[in-house]
Amino acid sequence: MKRLIQVAIAVALGLGGSAASAQTAPPPASPTPVAPRPAVVPPPSAVPVVMTMGDLMNTLVQPRHLKLGLAGQAQNWPLAKYALEQLRAALANIASAKPKFAGFPVGELVDLALTPPFNAVDAAIKQQDAQKFASAFAQVTQGCNACHMELNHAFVVIKTPDTSAFPNQDFSPKR
Ligand code: HEC
Repeated sequence: MKRLIQVAIAVALGLGGSAASAQTAPPPASPTPVAPRPAVVPPPSAVPVVMTMGDLMNTLVQPRHLKLGLAGQAQNWPLAKYALEQLRAALANIASAKPKFAGFPVGELVDLALTPPFNAVDAAIKQQDAQKFASAFAQVTQGCNACHMELNHAFVVIKTPDTSAFPNQDFSPKR
C-alpha cells in the first residue's frame, strides 16, 4: 500500500517510470528534464488562411442551401425559417468580405439573383405551404446558377437536394 502511494505520487510529479522502477533499475545519472507540454498554437511560420470565394461558397453557402432545402421538404417550418436566415446572412457576409469578384459587384449580384426567390421562400414558410416552398426553393437554386453563369462558373450547377449530407442532424419537425 505504501509502495503504491509512493508510485502514485511519483507519477503525479511526472517522475513516472524511473521512480516506479527505482528498486530494479539505477536512477539515471542526471534526471532528464521533463519537457513542457507544447501549447496548441500555430508555429511562427504559419500564415492566416484567407478564404477564397470558392472556400466561402463551399463552406457557408452550399451546406445552408442544402439545409434549407431539407428543412422545407420535411415541412419543418421553424428550421426552414432559421436556415433561410442563415443562408441570407452568409451571403451578406460574403458580399461584405468580397465586394468584388473578377470586377463584378458581388452584393448587387446576390441581390439581383436571390432577393426575390428568398422573399418567395419566406412567404411559403409563413404560409407553411410545401408546394409553394418547393417552387420558391427552385427559384433560389436558379438564382445560384444564374450568378455562376454570370461569373464564368456555369459548370458549378446547384440542384434541389435529394438526400442529406448531415446524418447527425434531424430535419423532421417536432410533433
Ligand atoms: C454573387 C454571385 C453568386 C451567387 C449569388 C452564388 N454564387 Fe456560388 N459561386 C460564385 C462564384 C464566383 C464561385 C466560384 C468562386 C471561386 O472559384 O473562387 C462560386 C462557387 C460556388 C460553389 C463551388 C465551390 C466549391 O469549392 O465546390 C458552390 C458549391 C456554390 N458556389 C454554391 C452556391 C449556392 C448554393 C448558391 C445559392 C444559394 C450560390 N453559390 C450563389 C458566385 C455566386
